[in-house]
Amino acid sequence: MKGHVPTPDEVADHIVAKLFDGQKPEQGDRILYPGLGTGPFVAAVERYCEANDYPIPDGVGIDSDPELIAQARDNHTDRNVEVVERDFLDDVSDLGEFQFIVSNPPYVPIEGLDEDEKQRYKETFDTAVGRFDLYILFFEQSLDLLDDNGRLSFITPEKFEYVDTGAPLRRILTNHHIEEIEHVAEDTFSGLVTYPTITTLSNSEAEETRVVHRDGSTETVTLPGDGESWASTVRAGEIELDETGVTLGDVTVRVSCGLATGADSLFVMEEDEVPPQLEEWAWKTTSGRQLSTNDGPESGTRVICPYRKNGNLIPEDELGDLGDWLELNEERLRDRSCVEKGKVWYSWHENPPMQDVLQPKIVCPDIIEEPKFWLETEGDVIPRHSVYYIIPEDSVDLHELHDYLNTPEVQEWIEQHAQKAHNDYYRMQSRVLKKLPVPKDWGETVQQTLV
Ligand SMILES: C[S@@+](CC[C@H](N)C(=O)[O-])C[C@H]1O[C@@H](n2cnc3c(N)ncnc32)[C@H](O)[C@@H]1O
Repeated sequence: MKGHVPTPDEVADHIVAKLFDGQKPEQGDRILYPGLGTGPFVAAVERYCEANDYPIPDGVGIDSDPELIAQARDNHTDRNVEVVERDFLDDVSDLGEFQFIVSNPPYVPIEGLDEDEKQRYKETFDTAVGRFDLYILFFEQSLDLLDDNGRLSFITPEKFEYVDTGAPLRRILTNHHIEEIEHVAEDTFSGLVTYPTITTLSNSEAEETRVVHRDGSTETVTLPGDGESWASTVRAGEIELDETGVTLGDVTVRVSCGLATGADSLFVMEEDEVPPQLEEWAWKTTSGRQLSTNDGPESGTRVICPYRKNGNLIPEDELGDLGDWLELNEERLRDRSCVEKGKVWYSWHENPPMQDVLQPKIVCPDIIEEPKFWLETEGDVIPRHSVYYIIPEDSVDLHELHDYLNTPEVQEWIEQHAQKAHNDYYRMQSRVLKKLPVPKDWGETVQQTLV
């Protein structure tokens, strides 16, 4: 069951009230429930219409999960809804148009999709770019089914407002009148931090948008219509990371660039190409590009490392089989700038701080489209030069730090502070990362531990 996060009744009631605010349902109107689940919105629509003495619109509820569909059928036998088991991201043009569409669509990032699905979505949806998420596609598909006088309310993560991947969706959305964006409480879906937001729009010319912030304050804004990030417009005063007086540099042992061998094409090889006699010196490794492509530090490649675990270069007369292999490549290894500058001919560009490197850590590519951090929990991957690695002080929990680094607040902070590389990618630099504000209590724990 992909991305099933049920909507609590009070949240469904709140969203349905927004949907009908300004346009009460009339006899014969149709309402679509994409990603129906067990049907909390069907019940909320019924409650709303009964309380206000409005006719209940004719409903169509779509979900691809047979079990949820069965439960929805049980729950809504007496209600005005046709419950359909179907993939909403297939061609659904036969469904016709709807005056109302309401949904809590699935939140399934690209990593949760198989290759066929990714390919199919990329061919079908304008919004399936970069690291897209199913809720983005649900938006696009639904807007295609919205009647000229229709209204739509969706609760989704707010990320589409500012990530690069959200640009095509932002362009499509701003072709409509986005009436309101309401940032609702972070704990709306208990236990899940998604920074939820309710978007309510009508299918008419773009006009101003009311923004409701998490602190309850409101303002009226004009959203950029060209796909640019809405962060500064809709999250002004909200997304700022507070200066806590404690930075990432204060609570980490290292925020460093990975290792440069000076001859990756020699030292780095596919796992199954490592000669058996070199296995004891072959460490797992990843480059920045591999990190993004593999969505994690497992790359299937190895780096042959002439250093001991304590970081000392193995003396030439103790190299054994490794020495024989290095000698075969001696001419090439000597032809490196680091050797010209006085380094031993088989050393790497710089001496690796192996004791730090071979620890559980957090890694990120040096250049990336959207800031993202991965965990390397085994402590056995040597990050290469195009990777940054972060090792927290003992008192700071690695997983907690990893979760924190992947919050929209941190992502936004990095986007505001990092240099831009080619293609508008962001350049991660330890100088910048070390200045990132982190929760104050982490600094206090580090202090206590140091005392
Ligand atoms: C976040 S849940 C919301 C469920 C329900 N609307 C609610 O508010 O409780 C998203 C729903 O979308 C369904 N879903 C996921 N992918 C789908 C697809 N391709 N087509 C139709 N439904 C899908 C899931 O089975 C799940 O029930």
